[in-house]
Amino acid sequence: MKGLLQFLLAKIILLAALASSFVYSYDPNPLQDYCVATNETNGVYVNGKFCKDPKLVTADDFFYSGLNIPGNTNNRLGSTVTDVDVRRIPGLNTLGVAIARFDFAPGGQIPPHIHPRASQIILVLKGKLLVGFVASNDYNYTLFSKVLYPGDVFAFPIGLVQFHANIGNTNAVAIGVVGSQDPGVIPIGNAVFGSKPLIDPKLLAKAFALDVNTVRHIQGVFSNEDYIVN
Ligand SMILES: *[C@@H]1O[C@H](CO)[C@@H](O)[C@H](O)[C@H]1NC(C)=O
Ligand SMILES: *[C@@H]1O[C@H](CO)[C@@H](O)[C@H](O)[C@H]1NC(C)=O
Repeated sequence: MKGLLQFLLAKIILLAALASSFVYSYDPNPLQDYCVATNETNGVYVNGKFCKDPKLVTADDFFYSGLNIPGNTNNRLGSTVTDVDVRRIPGLNTLGVAIARFDFAPGGQIPPHIHPRASQIILVLKGKLLVGFVASNDYNYTLFSKVLYPGDVFAFPIGLVQFHANIGNTNAVAIGVVGSQDPGVIPIGNAVFGSKPLIDPKLLAKAFALDVNTVRHIQGVFSNEDYIVN
């Protein structure tokens, strides 16, 4: 009897842990109209931010200007991402959305990456983009890919590896919207080859069927450059 109880208790704790990890995969629904993030630390604390006194909230707390300005694509990848998330619009705290501008030089790309906390939808404004995402093992690593032109929209499921590449002869511009105030980004190259400290190159050589010197070279590249998010 005692053994059964312990077993059930362990099961319940495990299920609760799993359930909460699912719940926290997404931004929780707000219980108030807004909770504008503030650096004052004497208010209510929601979603990792303190809320500004609602009486002091203004339209500017929900405002950002400047996404008309092209980002600087003068980097190895020929691209840049200008994020407008809760760091730039404090009123986004608890709202579960954010927006970004993607700029690409000809041949530029946003390399394979994951947004761990949000699905994404993009709208191409200019140029010709090859985009795609790869399904998980459960779906046979299927590649879903499209060439997009101005006016085209494409959606990327949360947590899957995705990429965007400019395959046209001109600059390309797209707008991306995500279902989180702060979706996070895990660029695969930076995470695997640019971690701090570095993962043992012998381990990565085996994992990726590379020789150790190649791994050291790749680690040199990724540990010496920042990902292209502004
Ligand atoms: C909070 O402080 C950070 C760092 O000084 C600053 O970048 C940010 O704009 C501040 N946020 C607000 C809502 O004032
Ligand atoms: C994945 O591949 C297996 C084996 O070929 C097949 O039975 C299954 O239907 C495929 N699933 C999907 C989602 O494509």
